Amino acid sequence: MAIREIRLEGDEILTKKCKEVKLFNERLHTLLDDMYETMTKAGGVGLTGPQVGVLKRVVVIDVGETPGENKIELVNPEIIESEGSQRDSEGCLSVPDIFGIVERPKKVTVRAQDRYGKWFKLTGEDLLARAICHETDHLEGIIFREHVIEYCEKK
Ligand code: CO
Repeated sequence: MAIREIRLEGDEILTKKCKEVKLFNERLHTLLDDMYETMTKAGGVGLTGPQVGVLKRVVVIDVGETPGENKIELVNPEIIESEGSQRDSEGCLSVPDIFGIVERPKKVTVRAQDRYGKWFKLTGEDLLARAICHETDHLEGIIFREHVIEYCEKK
């Protein structure tokens, strides 16, 4: 595994729509492993392909207290259900030290493939729902700033 460079706001790749993953091979597994390690080291709860310079529909998330215990990998994710709403502060590893209040659904269900190509569904609430929305936005070239209602001090 290796730490990859996190692309920052201003980098064009962050504004582009990502491509579907079609090959579930060793290269994908290395990418996911590297993304998880990079996210953990940076202290984030989510990271996507374009943030490490790869224009692919891949996401890693971990909203747990202990790194590694709640690892989620989403390949080609699509939000298929959402309900309710929540307002809370949000940040992004590609936009260091900037936090803002963003409204997101309270609960979402996502359909995605795992690293081997197998489809599954995952339902998340609260912070996990927020992370799923934030990260799937990245795959469309959308940064959370577009949703900020009001900037705030920190997370
Ligand atoms: Co982000």
